[in-house]
Amino acid sequence: MINLAILASGSGSNAEAIMKYFEKSEKVHVVAVLANKPDALVLERAKKYGVETMVFNKKQFMGGEVSGFLESKNVDIIALAGFLWLIPELLIEKFPILNIHPALLPKYGGKGLYGIHVHRAVKEAGDLISGMTIHEVNKNYDEGRILFQESCDLDPSDRPEDIASKVLKLEHKNYPRVIEDYAFKNIKK
Ligand code: GAR
Repeated sequence: MINLAILASGSGSNAEAIMKYFEKSEKVHVVAVLANKPDALVLERAKKYGVETMVFNKKQFMGGEVSGFLESKNVDIIALAGFLWLIPELLIEKFPILNIHPALLPKYGGKGLYGIHVHRAVKEAGDLISGMTIHEVNKNYDEGRILFQESCDLDPSDRPEDIASKVLKLEHKNYPRVIEDYAFKNIKK
């Protein structure tokens, strides 16, 4: 069994898509959902799927506590799903980590460009195409090797919220499958 942990900061709709996809899998098991906010909706979603949760603060994240927890759960791979803190090197060195970003990187990436801020920037630029990117995580925001992208057409009348919902549909469709492919190719058990 490949053990997957999810790190999230907010709503967790991607986390839920992942938990649902792997619910009956005999190859990948979601062992924990970790959040940096005690009121993050993702924690409720995890309970619904019977997945263990952990809430942590910056000190626990930057020191070894989160890393130690993940090791104690024999985590093989981490998926960031709407997680907004930069990942410390100590985690990058220990685990393969994937991230999902709601734009076609390298456009609209980097510090401060997350969630609705991304879609507002796309709208302001007048782009008629956006999409999502799944990439490996390195020590810089949104810069790791790109694994998968899919685009969607935008209408000039789309509001940032409309763009968000078009992109989110692509995220839910693709993220679980890309995690699975990546895990099968890269984790030998
Ligand atoms: C998703 O659109 C994800 O791509 C984005 O936050 C949203 C989280 O939604 N992530 C980033 O912007 C990271 N830079 P969710 O909590 O419903 O999955």
